Amino acid sequence: MDKSSVVIREMMLRDGLQNIPEFIPTEAKIKLFQLIVASGLRNIEITSFVSPKAILQFKDATQMAQAVLKMNLKGVEVSALVPNLRGAQLALESGMRKLGFFMSVSESHNISNVRRTRAESMDELKKILELKAKYPDMEPKAGMPCVFGCPFEGKIKPEVTLSFLRQFYELGIRDMSIADTVGFGNPREVKEMSRLCVTEFPDVTFSIHLHNTRGLGLANSLAAYESGIRIHDGAIGGLGGCPFAPGAKGNTSTEDLVFMFEEMGISTGVKMERLIEASRYFQSVKKDVHYESSILEVGVPVPKGAITKDGYEQKWNI
Ligand code: COA
Ligand code: ZN
Repeated sequence: MDKSSVVIREMMLRDGLQNIPEFIPTEAKIKLFQLIVASGLRNIEITSFVSPKAILQFKDATQMAQAVLKMNLKGVEVSALVPNLRGAQLALESGMRKLGFFMSVSESHNISNVRRTRAESMDELKKILELKAKYPDMEPKAGMPCVFGCPFEGKIKPEVTLSFLRQFYELGIRDMSIADTVGFGNPREVKEMSRLCVTEFPDVTFSIHLHNTRGLGLANSLAAYESGIRIHDGAIGGLGGCPFAPGAKGNTSTEDLVFMFEEMGISTGVKMERLIEASRYFQSVKKDVHYESSILEVGVPVPKGAITKDGYEQKWNI
């Protein structure tokens, strides 16, 4: 990947859906996946292997994984979230290999989210990693929610995050994600935390997962980019949110991320018209949720034409 490009990882089918209580039919999810692929997005989280008692939306995780893997798409990287050993087993059995484990940096949020202390979650991760013996091509990623603040405990010190990232590292994890689950972070903090991550762990691939709860999603993404993070999560329509984190709102919208980076000359590989097609499709499936995406709302800028005394000219005259 050259210096002036960024990977947008599409979270709609996981984070975007997990806060929608009504079950979205599997066929609609698959159609959305296909439209997302057609837009040029190449890194897609497709489902979550969680307990249906915790989140009913993902009761079709196995069917989703099987349907997507059957498409055998070259160059498209698909991942799934797994909260525990059971989830990892189910994901691997259904053919998934890229598994996103997560452990909140905040003890309170971790207990609220997965009913485990952080120490218990670390033990769970160790058990998941033992599955490598049976599935050597398993690719684990470790995500860390609430790095910039927790709805229960407030701000979390960067040293606390780094100490857990170090534990992930010692377990052999080389793919990590830091998350602002409820929108506490500001660009200065995100820039500094991202810098600490990439300098302390130069051989780790870092990604950033931001929620636009208080309108700083794009600014925070740019701050992370400036510190060298090159994988940025987004969700079409700005949907998403953790049901176990009070006050959580949607991810930064993919459309807005693509617009920002492309306008800055940083390539995303995404075709905006096709992306909007994917978003419009989901809007037709689910009308009664709050979408938060400036590009979806007003579109990309299209000049109307130069103003002359006689009225608008047909074309902008450069
Ligand atoms: N997939 C499917 N079923 C699962 C499962 C999984 N990953 N993990 C547990 N279960 C089932 C168990 O089989 C059990 O079913 P039963 O009651 O019919 O026997 C039931 O769920 C409860 O199991 P239990 O052992 O009490 O669950 P747990 O304490 O190990 O795990 C979590 C709880 C983590 C699975 C649950 O809190 C969860 O899924 N949370 C979702 C968190 C999340 O996705 N947050 C948003 C992302 S940030
Ligand atoms: Zn999230």
